[in-house]
Amino acid sequence: MTVSRIAHLAVALDTADWGEFRSWCERFGPRAGVLKVGLEAYLRWGPRAAEVALESGAKLFLDLKLHDIPNTVEGATRSAADLGASYLTVHAGGGSVMMESAATAAEGRLSVLAVTLLTHLDRAELARLDLAGEPQERVTSWAALARSAGCAGVVCSALEVGALRARFARPFTLVTPGIRFEAGFESDTADDDQRRVATPEAALADGADLLVVGRPLTRADEPERVLSRLADAATR
Ligand code: C5P
Repeated sequence: MTVSRIAHLAVALDTADWGEFRSWCERFGPRAGVLKVGLEAYLRWGPRAAEVALESGAKLFLDLKLHDIPNTVEGATRSAADLGASYLTVHAGGGSVMMESAATAAEGRLSVLAVTLLTHLDRAELARLDLAGEPQERVTSWAALARSAGCAGVVCSALEVGALRARFARPFTLVTPGIRFEAGFESDTADDDQRRVATPEAALADGADLLVVGRPLTRADEPERVLSRLADAATR
């Protein structure tokens, strides 16, 4: 029986255990459109992590959140494309020229996604950083900057996706972490560190294109049940 790939699912491979990393690639790679390799895995295993993820047939999302001078980010973007990545994150806070350098260096080989405000930054912390104003307004204005700079989309919380989609039509891509299930569903992770959360159905209905799902799937007692729910989420 062939099981179809869930195009809107990016599985976050956040682990320090190589055996676990490989088994997640083997298990989830053939089922998900995208596998996401973040800083933890990349700093531990480097390009080998990217290769193993790609061997599964899924697209590779390098979530390395680049933030450096434009010339450096340009070279790093080329390196990511050469590794076979389809998605790469950069910080919008690096500015328009930096984002433009990434988008230009991508040459259509990969999608550059901008990270606007990290979700742990609340108003008080933003004030300490001399970044006054409403976080939501900053998210929107930095997303606009990212789009003008040629980025393919942004990473945003599940609670921001509706407002951003109302302002930025497709094909601008909205990538959404913080996916959680209602209490009582398999692998209830309600007490974890994610605060701005939504169900997969809500995030997709609000206009997300790609859902980043880590622990609710990788730590699930019954991952198949979670995969079925994620597969059906787009049709509900
Ligand atoms: O395990 P969980 O589903 O919370 O994983 C979410 C993934 O999305 C992690 O890899 C995390 O780094 C990433 N992420 C996030 N919140 C953001 C940006 C990225 O949780 N604001």
